[in-house]
Amino acid sequence: MRILVTGGAGYIGSVVTEELLNDGHEAVVLDSLYKGHRSAVDPRARFVQADLTDSETLREVLKQNHIDAVIHMAADSLVGESVDQPAKYYRNNLAAGLNLLDAMRDCGVGKFVFSSTAATYGEPEKQPITETDPTDPTNPYGETKLAFERVLHWYEGAYGLRYASLRYFNAAGATERCGEWHDPETHLIPLVLQVAAGRRIDVAVYGNDYPTADGTCIRDYIHVVDLARAHILALGILDERSAIYNLGCGGEGYSVQAVIDTAREVTGRDIATTVAPRRAGDPSVLIASSEKIRNELGWQPEFQDLPVIIQSAWRWLMAHPRGYE
Ligand SMILES: NC(=O)c1ccc[n+]([C@@H]2O[C@H](COP(=O)([O-])OP(=O)(O)OC[C@H]3O[C@@H](n4cnc5c(N)ncnc54)[C@H](O)[C@@H]3O)[C@@H](O)[C@H]2O)c1
Repeated sequence: MRILVTGGAGYIGSVVTEELLNDGHEAVVLDSLYKGHRSAVDPRARFVQADLTDSETLREVLKQNHIDAVIHMAADSLVGESVDQPAKYYRNNLAAGLNLLDAMRDCGVGKFVFSSTAATYGEPEKQPITETDPTDPTNPYGETKLAFERVLHWYEGAYGLRYASLRYFNAAGATERCGEWHDPETHLIPLVLQVAAGRRIDVAVYGNDYPTADGTCIRDYIHVVDLARAHILALGILDERSAIYNLGCGGEGYSVQAVIDTAREVTGRDIATTVAPRRAGDPSVLIASSEKIRNELGWQPEFQDLPVIIQSAWRWLMAHPRGYE
């Protein structure tokens, strides 16, 4: 298939592009580079530097490249920033996304894979979280992603759009070429590894008095390659139906402390920590049920062990000590 990947110069998008190409698809990456990195884009992909608000370019790209499906990953995704600047999130994650959907409708492109998030659930009532559990986001980031999912539902009814919305839990890890390099960085694994590499002094542990075995929050980590492969599987259902899937590895998850201890073992380096107060709206445990995608699409994570995930991220950081700079 010929796939347009929006946000394909970002962390997950660059790996999705790589995996699409490895699988024999053609990929066009559209990214404004306002956050992403040109050198993260696989050289086999066509690259278009443009913003989602540029309707004319969107239409041109869709038509000229005879695009069959769009994987939409371009978004803002900092929870704290979304609370301070909700307008930015409604504009980019919702309004700019609508622009893309309208361009697709006008050009007759009817298949769509969407990067949604566990943040659509808010503070879950039970674990592991299934796709039918209540959605009640606690921040504008999750709210805009959920609103966009609702848009997809109504566009399917009115315009025949077929979509797969993938609610990612915590993406982590790297390939040989592509790793996580955000500014600011807010994700635990890259932060911990930056301390190990001497780029940071310490890493904050937000709360060590949660009702978990070691007192720190438990999260579900998914290797970015396993995540990327799920997108390719999701493309396969769009001739017939739309669906929403959780994407995490399930199981018991890993605590913040376990991530730090594992990173110490993998890197052989000391990693200094400081305990900070809990962050508002941080649930103690967030674990996906991934039964639905396993059963319906045969998705099977290959790299679900934490040391393997951290090892891949560490290898990338050691090979790219200045990231994409
Ligand atoms: N990283 C995670 O663990 C995680 C978890 C849940 C959901 N997600 C979602 O996955 C997607 C990718 O996440 P990521 O961590 O790779 O983010 P990222 O910031 O690394 O990549 C996003 C890319 O989108 C581009 N972009 C943003 N707005 C744009 C616009 N208006 N026009 C064109 N390009 C634009 C940025 O330049 C960047 O390259 C996002 O939609 C995010 O909400 C990520």
